[in-house]
Amino acid sequence: MIFQRKNKTTIDDRQIDLVDYARARIRQKKRLYFHFVAFLFASLVMVILNIGLGYGAQIQPFGFPWVLSAALLWVVFLLLHFFQIYVTKRFMNPAWEKEQIKTLVGLQETRIEKIKRKLDKEASLQADAEWHKEESEKPKQRITIIAAAASNHALGKDNKLIWHLSKDLQHFKTLTNGHAVIMGRKTFESMPRALPNRTNIVITRQSEYQAENITIASSLSEALTIAKDDPRPFIIGGGEIYKESMGIADEIELTRVHADFDADTFFPEINSHQWKEVWREEHAADEKHAHAFTFLRYQKI
Ligand SMILES: NC(=O)c1ccc[n+]([C@@H]2O[C@H](COP(=O)([O-])OP(=O)(O)OC[C@H]3O[C@@H](n4cnc5c(N)ncnc54)[C@H](OP(=O)(O)O)[C@@H]3O)[C@@H](O)[C@H]2O)c1
Repeated sequence: MIFQRKNKTTIDDRQIDLVDYARARIRQKKRLYFHFVAFLFASLVMVILNIGLGYGAQIQPFGFPWVLSAALLWVVFLLLHFFQIYVTKRFMNPAWEKEQIKTLVGLQETRIEKIKRKLDKEASLQADAEWHKEESEKPKQRITIIAAAASNHALGKDNKLIWHLSKDLQHFKTLTNGHAVIMGRKTFESMPRALPNRTNIVITRQSEYQAENITIASSLSEALTIAKDDPRPFIIGGGEIYKESMGIADEIELTRVHADFDADTFFPEINSHQWKEVWREEHAADEKHAHAFTFLRYQKI
């Protein structure tokens, strides 16, 4: 708060405090002075009464005339009053009090800050522990690529598959049954309809794209978000989507068809530093299968 005086000098709160304090000190000193005068006057009256006129001359506590004992007692009070004003009030003044309050408040604030930091740390550790617990309790999702690729990595031509291998189709059906199947728009259009008993998620940049029994995703990550509750979502092609998902997939279920084909779509190379083969099952060509093929399972290292 600022007070404006007529002569333009300003007095702030601190100065007001000092003025108030000075006034109080002057009042105390005045009181001490009146106390002293009262003492002198009363002592004089008591001396006249006791020693001069002999009032209470027979009362002699500790063997002295009572006036001396009374005056001595009063001197003690007077000294205490003097000490209070010249010593105690001088050092334990409002400035000293403020300093003390500041120091104590500062100490308290430091303590509170320390406790807050400790609590924050504990809360953060607890949240971290809870997150880890939740994460470890969550069944880990295995994103799986499933594909059939020729020896020269061919996948298809003119948006069609190049071979017909019934055991491979059965293998695909068995693995993907009941799961989410994620595919590019072209692969979806290469099929007669959405795959039954599976959640068909079709990735396309066309926001208006529609077809029966499918869910549209505008990116691979959106498709995976849609399939987040599936413990094993399958990425079923084609070439573009396989390429994009090699980095995020955990497993590859690959049918390697042992022949080379003319194609326009190819499976990406499986880098042996990133993937290890964990299972294989070989099938020779027969009357129902024009080509030999091998089921392979790779897991990310
Ligand atoms: N052998 C196998 O196991 C196998 C399996 C599946 C498919 N195939 C063959 O593979 C061929 C099709 O593969 P393909 O590579 O041509 O096409 P695809 O991967 O099936 O689909 C490509 C389309 O997916 C959409 N797309 C891709 N990346 C996207 C992204 N990041 N964000 C949004 N949309 C994205 C685009 O759709 P829009 O153009 O609509 O935006 C793009 O044109 C066919 O011949 C098929 O028969 C083979």
